[in-house]
Amino acid sequence: MATRASSGRRARGPQQPPPAQEERLYEPLEPAAGAGGGGEAARAEAAGRAVGAEPLGEDRALDLALRPRSFAEFIGQSRVVENLALYVEAARRRSRRGGGRRAPLDHVLLSGEPGLGKTTLAHLLAREIGAGLRATSGPAIERPGDLAGVLTNLEYGEVLFIDEIHRLPPAVEEYLYSAMEDFEIDIVLDQGPAARTIKIDLKPFTLVGATTREGLLSAPLRSRFGVLEKLEPYPPDDLERIALRAAGLIGVPLEPAAARLIAERARGSPRVANRFVRRLADVAEVRGRGAITRSIAEQGLGMLGVDEAGLDAMDRKILGVLCRHGGGPLGLKTIAVAVGETEGTIEEVYEPYLIRRGLLVKTPRGRCATAAAFSHLGFKAPRERQPPLPLAGL
Ligand SMILES: Nc1ncnc2c1ncn2[C@@H]1O[C@H](COP(=O)(O)OP(=O)(O)OP(=O)(O)O)[C@@H](O)[C@H]1O
Ligand SMILES: [Mg+2]
Repeated sequence: MATRASSGRRARGPQQPPPAQEERLYEPLEPAAGAGGGGEAARAEAAGRAVGAEPLGEDRALDLALRPRSFAEFIGQSRVVENLALYVEAARRRSRRGGGRRAPLDHVLLSGEPGLGKTTLAHLLAREIGAGLRATSGPAIERPGDLAGVLTNLEYGEVLFIDEIHRLPPAVEEYLYSAMEDFEIDIVLDQGPAARTIKIDLKPFTLVGATTREGLLSAPLRSRFGVLEKLEPYPPDDLERIALRAAGLIGVPLEPAAARLIAERARGSPRVANRFVRRLADVAEVRGRGAITRSIAEQGLGMLGVDEAGLDAMDRKILGVLCRHGGGPLGLKTIAVAVGETEGTIEEVYEPYLIRRGLLVKTPRGRCATAAAFSHLGFKAPRERQPPLPLAGL
């Protein structure tokens, strides 16, 4: 049923060499070569990896293996899931009234930090409406012709999943407007005076877009989605259930106290919780008796460099750079160079959690470490610290 149309994320470009630093818990969003610079070349190359990058290798296999297969299996985000289930049901009823022909669902935009379940929900939506899903991603669609190819291959009522939709090139995005609105697309043939356009009718479809950066989406594109749902970081109670579910699927006993510890340190993300379970299962295998006990979890998370606040080595590096510069403000580029990570990854993977924990603030002049960051790292806060507040009144 489900097919992958163009697997832009991994199909293009060589895989990035593994980073030299300690084991990574979170995937970089852009190749290491682009560190600090971003830039077109890095972006283009990043298309193979891509923003909000799905994990590679073993982690990707884990992601797939643990992906919930129905709304009922999907833990947490109850408001979002209830809404989506209602729209699916409404579409079903419309289909029944319309003589059985499947009524396509409205276009859906899912936003939220990496690893919160956007791809999972896109697949669930297709499954629940009984339609096929074709997946591609913003950076993979380079030219309008690529988009036309994808769109004209869609069957009636199918779901087209565009991951990282905020990274669609503007020229492509404009073509998507008429496709979304009127299920037709104008193709320009030839160039210069001989140029002419032909209109191609498309079969009605549902576009599901996913983005880690909703703010970067253009207003015209955003307004063409009938359903906009934002996924929020998961509370520890949900993450505890997610960890227990993952342990069950992997087949490793997980003590409730250990599940709690994992949940508290998983920075609101099911992907991180699942990854911890997988790694701790290895620790339990070698250092324990196969079960993830509280003490195995503590030991294992320590080995992964995850502290009691859920920060890993890179989080602490970022805060460390800021603290050593009097708490900031420092520009994102400076931080990226100092810690050897890409700007995109810092902004999308690390910062949201540091901000949520009250350890870092963004100001118009740059990033600042808070007093809590100084005390977390065991640094003495400078006496004459500028309050890291937005510059009101300027
Ligand atoms: N609600 C959930 N219940 C259980 N497991 C979940 C849930 N949400 C996500 N997961 C797990 O977390 C993994 C990551 O989810 P997913 O790939 O859907 O995230 P994403 O939002 O698409 O991330 P990215 O922005 O990096 O593409 C999934 O493979 C699944 O195993
Ligand atoms: Mg995804």
